[in-house]
Amino acid sequence: MSADHPYLRWALRHVLDRVPDDRDAPAFQVSRAEAVTLTPAERDLVRAYPEEPADGDALRRDLAALLDRHLVNGRSPRFQNQLFSGVEEEALAGSFLGIFPNNTISTREVAPLPSEMETAVTDWLLRALPWDRARSDGTLTPAGSFSNYLAVYLARRRATARLGDDALLRLAVFTSAAGHYSIPKGADLCGIPRGNVFEVAADECDRMRPDALAEALATAEARGLVPAFVNATLGTTVAGALDPLAEIAALLAGRNVWLHADGAWGALGLLGSERARFRDAVAHADSLTWDAHKGLGAPVALSFLVVRDADDLDALRPPGGGGYLFRDLDAPRDRADLGLRSLYCGKPFVSLALWLLWKAKGESGLRAHVDRARALALRFRDRIAASPRLELAHEPETWVVCFRPRAADRAASDALAEAARERINASGRWMINLCPSAGGLVFRALFVNPLMSEEHVDELAAHVEAGLA
Ligand SMILES: Cc1ncc(COP(=O)(O)O)c(C=O)c1O
Repeated sequence: MSADHPYLRWALRHVLDRVPDDRDAPAFQVSRAEAVTLTPAERDLVRAYPEEPADGDALRRDLAALLDRHLVNGRSPRFQNQLFSGVEEEALAGSFLGIFPNNTISTREVAPLPSEMETAVTDWLLRALPWDRARSDGTLTPAGSFSNYLAVYLARRRATARLGDDALLRLAVFTSAAGHYSIPKGADLCGIPRGNVFEVAADECDRMRPDALAEALATAEARGLVPAFVNATLGTTVAGALDPLAEIAALLAGRNVWLHADGAWGALGLLGSERARFRDAVAHADSLTWDAHKGLGAPVALSFLVVRDADDLDALRPPGGGGYLFRDLDAPRDRADLGLRSLYCGKPFVSLALWLLWKAKGESGLRAHVDRARALALRFRDRIAASPRLELAHEPETWVVCFRPRAADRAASDALAEAARERINASGRWMINLCPSAGGLVFRALFVNPLMSEEHVDELAAHVEAGLA
């Protein structure tokens, strides 16, 4: 870095100039058409690799213009397109400070404080679970998908440890039609044949149907397969539905199957006042995925995979290697290097984002955030229920509301929704997603953005109504 750090100063000022406006910010600062199309000059700037160093002032000015014009503002409450929206200031500050030392958490020797902090935030989540704290543990991963891959991997290791490596091609995985695609992808990554992944039917509210799971288990067993992993979702990607974990666990009794709860979206409920129903669900699981970036306001992406039995995480130890880095392979778990429980080696200090958020807000602040998200979702639910032109796809179970145009039939509703989405997103002010669901296309609105107010909720309802015209 040069003496007066022009890039760093510019980047920090860029951030500080923009965050105060986030509450009123549009998703895109320009129309959607302009946002998605780079001009020839912009394309040149992005693609060209100069031989000589750039004129720094010009480069910073041009880059600022590019970022403002073509980057969606995921901090804005009007950004509704993904399963995250908004970032808390404390978490963003923690994230910057975590990157700044340019460190990794692999060993305690190199990362004494990051090791303590990652352990502290993991313990904090584990305390919210109805598991034996002394036996459970977890690890931070780069995203919910990685946490899910890891869960499939640990289940596969547990199964092959019991049945032998030759059993790999006979292992069967079950997940619902409304489950996230990272589960079958994780099975694929683990070498489980695609034909051994069973997609279990979901009901009209996106909840996995236990009768369909029972049938799929029986079909797999009749084919000589060994059910090894069942994924139940706590907060499905589209509807935010909660799979019936107790009923699913009852079906698995005596079968030696790993039950995973993908709470990437829904485990947020463990922090709110209605936490009992989430705790009851997780009570049955062997592992849980939770994304702090989906709903709690951590920066994208910061996920946990926690397991009921910490011994399962030993599967992540480097097979017969890693001695160049890990000096004390036999240290007790609470003192062992965190890299021994990680899917990758150079893992950044991301826990600081969450640690700072949690300390700054306290448990009561986080509870208030979750409760507010639910209250805003219910306010929006009431707006849709009262609308002559829109209808609820189903009752919202969490902080997401799915709705669609009222129409004579599904085809007409889908066509209206497609056309309306174009109009709703055209100005760039709002960005909302249209998703396939059992009953046809549905708009998905979410209410977890910390800047979202009742006024935003009402504005969204009115904006969607106008888009139908
Ligand atoms: C239920 C569920 N699980 C997992 C994921 C994957 O999370 P990530 O986007 O962090 O990889 C998603 C993403 O939307 C999800 O909805």
